[in-house]
Amino acid sequence: MNVGIDGFSFYTPKYFLPLQTLALARQVDPQKYLRGLGQYRMAVLPPDEDVVTMGANAAVNLLNKHSLDDVDLLLFATESAIDQSKAGGLFIHGLLKLSERCRVVELKQACYSGVFGLQLAVSFIKSKMAKKVLLITSDNARYGLATAGESSQGAAAVALLITENPRITALEEQAAFCSFDTMDFFKPNYMSEAIVDGHYSCTVYLNFLKKTWQIYQDETGLGLNDFSAFCFHIPVPRLVEKAYQQLDKHSALFHQEALLYYSRHIGNSYTASFFLGLASLLEQSSCDFTGQRLGCYSYGSGSSSEFFSMIVQPNYKKHLNTDYHMHLLENRIELDIKRYEEFYDFNLLDHVNGCSIPCTVHSGYYRLVKISNHQRIYALHTQQKDLERQVVDEKFYIF
Ligand code: HMG
Repeated sequence: MNVGIDGFSFYTPKYFLPLQTLALARQVDPQKYLRGLGQYRMAVLPPDEDVVTMGANAAVNLLNKHSLDDVDLLLFATESAIDQSKAGGLFIHGLLKLSERCRVVELKQACYSGVFGLQLAVSFIKSKMAKKVLLITSDNARYGLATAGESSQGAAAVALLITENPRITALEEQAAFCSFDTMDFFKPNYMSEAIVDGHYSCTVYLNFLKKTWQIYQDETGLGLNDFSAFCFHIPVPRLVEKAYQQLDKHSALFHQEALLYYSRHIGNSYTASFFLGLASLLEQSSCDFTGQRLGCYSYGSGSSSEFFSMIVQPNYKKHLNTDYHMHLLENRIELDIKRYEEFYDFNLLDHVNGCSIPCTVHSGYYRLVKISNHQRIYALHTQQKDLERQVVDEKFYIF
């Protein structure tokens, strides 16, 4: 049975900070970020968005080309959970008005849980436990102001439809995986920012790639020449350039620039980052990958990794969302350092008593309106005009 990705769409907040601005504010040579890390911009989440709104905003765009009525499993992968108990996907299930005949679960293992969700979706479909799976990967990468990790922050969500006879890519069965208890990156429950041992985490990322790639080759008999392109988890573009080099010195052959394009402008989006790379590779390369095999490496700190492969399906280009994604990226609002720090420091705990969350005009189709009785209240963009009037009256700022 051929099972894989039938459609995908990403969403990233409508605000960004140029890395040049960050470098000047932090008294760092801008070339360190632009050339040394290969990062140009970072997406910045406004106060009235979170992983739920980003996920719903990514999924709502799928409705232009797909029906979600028969989705019977919704997997929500994130490491920026908004609740210790309730799956964030249940809010999205409600916002999208999905069928009651649907399982909803949240997955966690750092950046790896998105790819694990993909494998889980495929096996649910193959074993006839699900017909159509909506996989949403959504994250807001936060390391802290003026930390070494700050330049690799970002935010995005990718929504994917997994079905039989997929029109974009089909997964192959062989996969190599590997886990080991490490403390390269983690986020204790009482913190909203990750603690990271940056250089160590890069070493672990590359070591896990070496291991899983070796196991994959040993078990499948496949080698570099059996692949047309590679797709990696992208925490920092420069690290992925090193990953290409580790696999093969002639990395330009494997469409490195197409893979990294979106991430250079968005930054790390943890669980979503691998799929942002896949979108970038298929949408930004002028090559026709029909029938070709993509090598895929996912890494999640802590640490688990997986190497697997997908075959690109005929006419896949017709089912991509390139115009919409480019429109999103080209119509973002540039922040200065002051506004970026205000957005960053916004503390939801100050708003749990039911007062409205400051309304940013440029939030997506869905936004977080308030927290009332500790419950998050989300609203449609179509109501935004009224909400704007309301927040002006209440003397909240609008930007
Ligand atoms: P750093 O200490 O800021 O940077 O950390 P650096 O000093 O290592 O410099 C970076 C590069 O810039 C070097 O190039 C420098 O030479 C160059 P390289 O030697 O690597 O080729 N450089 C310059 N180039 C041009 N002009 C200059 C200049 N100065 C220096 N003037 C680090 C970088 C990535 C460690 C940091 O950003 C960080 O801690 N990021 C967060 C952690 C991270 O992303 N780790 C990646 C692997 S872990 C992972 O993938 C999992 C994760 O996604 C989480 C999850 O799984 O959930 C993070």
